[in-house]
Amino acid sequence: MTDSPPPTPPASGREAKKKVGILISGRGSNMMSLVAASNTPGSPYEIALVASDKPAAAGLAWAAAHDIPTFAQSPKGIPKSDYEAAIDAALRSADVEIVALAGYMRLLSDDFVAKWRGRIVNIHPSLLPKYKGLDTHARAIAAGDAVAGCSVHIVTEELDGGEILGQAEVPIRPDDTPDTLADRVLAAEHRLYPQVLAQFAAS
Ligand code: GRF
Repeated sequence: MTDSPPPTPPASGREAKKKVGILISGRGSNMMSLVAASNTPGSPYEIALVASDKPAAAGLAWAAAHDIPTFAQSPKGIPKSDYEAAIDAALRSADVEIVALAGYMRLLSDDFVAKWRGRIVNIHPSLLPKYKGLDTHARAIAAGDAVAGCSVHIVTEELDGGEILGQAEVPIRPDDTPDTLADRVLAAEHRLYPQVLAQFAAS
């Protein structure tokens, strides 16, 4: 009689963590908050890759120093389709399931969005649908708003226009400048993004 190998037990009864790829263009403070949250017990996601259009992005060096796989591809001098194909290939070779934009300052093409439909999320520093695009804090102050904030949303072909997954409000003070408001909104972003991404990854 031959011994047959014992059946493989289920890993632990828990779902596998979703693999997240983060796209950044700069300092990456939101990326750092996602990394920190991914390292807490019970996180439903793990960071499989941090990629950037800026090879010198400070956040990329931080990620590499924290043993997170990184990828950089400058779009300079090549067609946008080639640039995005390189990013897409890097994400796929890291088995990424969710793409999280975190200060990624480039518009994704409709083709890229279609390839990852429903699986790209972004954090935007306003209470969408107000103030899509840039200079959100200056525009909120100029409008006389009492409240600013940030939003995490699904990325679609429409700039900052996809389904809103979560928002956090930040009061605007009478003496706020765009910079002081940006600092407080950024702190709210660092709380909101990991929470919303966790809900999204677990859904
Ligand atoms: C954040 O304010 C984010 O909402 C916006 O760009 C900024 C990126 O900051 N999309 P960081 O690189 O995450 O520090």
